[in-house]
Amino acid sequence: MPGSKTDRAPVITLDGPGGSGKGTVSLILARRLGWHFLDSGALYRAVALAARRRGMKLDDEEALGRLALALPVQFKYSEINGSPSILLEKDDVTLVLRGEACGADASQVAALPAVREGLLERQRAFRTAPGLVADGRDMGTVVFPDADLKIFLTATPEERARRRYKQLKDKGMDVSLVSLLEEIESRDARDSNREVAPLKPAEDAITVDTTGMAIDRVVETIMALWAEASPGR
Ligand code: C5P
Repeated sequence: MPGSKTDRAPVITLDGPGGSGKGTVSLILARRLGWHFLDSGALYRAVALAARRRGMKLDDEEALGRLALALPVQFKYSEINGSPSILLEKDDVTLVLRGEACGADASQVAALPAVREGLLERQRAFRTAPGLVADGRDMGTVVFPDADLKIFLTATPEERARRRYKQLKDKGMDVSLVSLLEEIESRDARDSNREVAPLKPAEDAITVDTTGMAIDRVVETIMALWAEASPGR
C-alpha cells in the first residue's frame, strides 16, 4: 500500500536530553542492525559552528535559516566501526563540534524555526534502505512521526553530567563536573521550553530511564523492543 509503513525503510528514533546515552546507543544499534545512522544534533552544532566562523549573529533567524538549508556539511563513516566524522567545508570538525561551547550555541540556533525548517529535508533524506536509527530531540515527534519504534531515553541530570564528563575527559578535553551539570540543566530547560519542537517524548514513544544502566543493557532493551515491534522482519 503506497504510503504505508511497509513500503519505506524502517526507522527507530531515539530522542532525549544530552547525556542520556542516545548517541552511543544509536551508533551501536545502527551497527547491530546494519542500518544508517543520523546524528541530528551534529547538524545543529554544525550550523552554530559555521555561523560563528562566518561572524554571524546567533539570533539572525533569516540568515541562519539560509545557512541551515545550504549547510556545506558532510558525514564520513568509518569502515572500521561505522562512527561518523563530520566535515564542514572539507574541514574535519568532529572534535570541535562535541565541545560544550558548540553544544550551547547549537541549542540557541535550534530554537529558531527557520533553522529547524532548513534542516528538515536533509534529515529525512537519511531514511534509506535497509533502515535508519535517528538520534535527536524531535526525531519521533517532528522529523519521523511515522517511525516504526520511538524510544525516549532519560537519566538524572547528575548521571548525565558524569557521563559527559567522562566522555570529554577521554577525548582529552579540559572540563569541570560542576559546570557540566549547570550547562546540562540550562540546556534541558532551553530545549524543553522552546516553542518549536520542544524536547518531549512522542505520545507513542517508550521511555527508558538509563540511570544506573550499562550501555549494553540499554542496547539489549531496545533490541528486544524492536523484536517485539517488528515480528517477522
Ligand atoms: O544531541 P546534541 O547534544 O548534539 O544536540 C545539541 C543541541 O542541538 C541540543 O541541545 C538541541 O538544542 C539541538 N537539537 C535539536 N534537535 C535535534 C537535535 C539537537 O534541537 N533533533
